[in-house]
Amino acid sequence: LPDNDFAFDLANLEIPAGTTLAVIVNPNNPNGGSFDMAPLPELLGRYPHTYFLVDEAFIGLAGQSVAHIVPQYPNLLVTRTLSKAHSLAGFRVGYAILPDHLAVDLNTHNDAYPLARVSQAAALATLQHEDKIMERVRKLRDWTEELGAELRALGVRTFPTQTYFFLADFAPHDATVLADKLRERGIFIKPLGDPILGPGFMRVTTALPDDNQRVVQSLRELL
Ligand SMILES: Cc1ncc(COP(=O)(O)O)c(C=O)c1O
Repeated sequence: LPDNDFAFDLANLEIPAGTTLAVIVNPNNPNGGSFDMAPLPELLGRYPHTYFLVDEAFIGLAGQSVAHIVPQYPNLLVTRTLSKAHSLAGFRVGYAILPDHLAVDLNTHNDAYPLARVSQAAALATLQHEDKIMERVRKLRDWTEELGAELRALGVRTFPTQTYFFLADFAPHDATVLADKLRERGIFIKPLGDPILGPGFMRVTTALPDDNQRVVQSLRELL
């Protein structure tokens, strides 16, 4: 929660008996922070009847992957997507790293042609240019930090991130009202509408630097 910047020690995770699946999103959405995954092996042993799915959708941006320990644990699954760091959201390519018996089961129930040829080609192409992807990831993270600093200068509370989006609390402003006004200016920011966090929370994703400047200018006028 906000008081500890949305950090959570996985060693303290307590899972109710009978739980089939526990999902850990690392790096996490919507705050963009990542977890220390060191306690995971102990958790996998402590809850042998629970499958742990680690969603590594944003792993290209930050965080410690646990994909390499999948072969050692029958209850660990990792899912990935090329929609985030690799920007291929429209191609709909994702994959899982998971124990054999689950892979076989999934493939038996999958569509005969789960991946369009063109998506496959795009995925293979992007995976051959990991250096360029990493270069852009560094830029995205820099732009995110710069945008966060600009919002703080306007009096907005922002929370730590390691990805290209972050949480911001615009209180005393209402995020839904603010998002509507921004939308009229062609700027799309997602109000969270979370009753626990409060009405001021938004998830802010970086755009290109010039566009970020437009956002900051608009907020300067609206706040
Ligand atoms: C945490 C997380 N996991 C998985 C996904 C799935 O992405 P896609 O369906 O584009 O592969 C998303 C997309 O927003 C996400 O935020």
